[in-house]
Amino acid sequence: MRIDILTLFPEIALAPLSESILRRAREAGIVEIVAHNLRDWATGKHRKTDDYLAGGGQGMLLMPGPIFAAIEELRTPEAKVILMTPQGKVFKQAIARELSEETHLILLCGHYEGVDHRVIEELVDLELSIGDYVLTNGAIAAAVVTDAIVRLLPGALGDERSHQEESFSDPNLLEAPAYTKPIDFRGMKVPDILYSGHHGKIAEWKREKAMERTRQNRPDLLGPG
Ligand code: ADE
Repeated sequence: MRIDILTLFPEIALAPLSESILRRAREAGIVEIVAHNLRDWATGKHRKTDDYLAGGGQGMLLMPGPIFAAIEELRTPEAKVILMTPQGKVFKQAIARELSEETHLILLCGHYEGVDHRVIEELVDLELSIGDYVLTNGAIAAAVVTDAIVRLLPGALGDERSHQEESFSDPNLLEAPAYTKPIDFRGMKVPDILYSGHHGKIAEWKREKAMERTRQNRPDLLGPG
């Protein structure tokens, strides 16, 4: 898979994708990630990329010129162009799974008040938000989306099982609490059941605790009532 990130701040997008699992996936050739500076496609003495809002209003908007030039250069016939914006569809594990089947993604990062709407109408296949809050910079959101997608690619995680059992594999349940050594930490004990060797009972316990946690932290996942 190839992922192009188009942003005014390529370093912000790349920093979290340059360590640990993401770094290894890139080095192993599982994914090729390239972050581009939108300013490279800007023209004129000042290489301007933004301007005031038509019709007035606070803030600045990314102009269509540099974005059209960049995407026309970067896109391939199979490329899917995604705009990172708080106005987008909310990113979920199911979307990460769908996007992990693609071969080429171009993540366009908004800045300031966003991008000229002609970009969205003409170039963008999908608008994505990583949640109901506003970041200073879509490059942060692009890194989040890239991370969630790349870890799903075959071979990206050492242990293929590790993304089977986790939260959102069952999209309606969070994970059960987990423990490691020592068995007794400052008088706080690992639940006996986990050392019982009784796999059926352990699975049942996990399911119960997962339910309890979901009810407490994410009742919305359990539906109304
Ligand atoms: N840019 C600013 N805020 C964002 C968000 N919540 N999701 C995606 N892109 C953004």
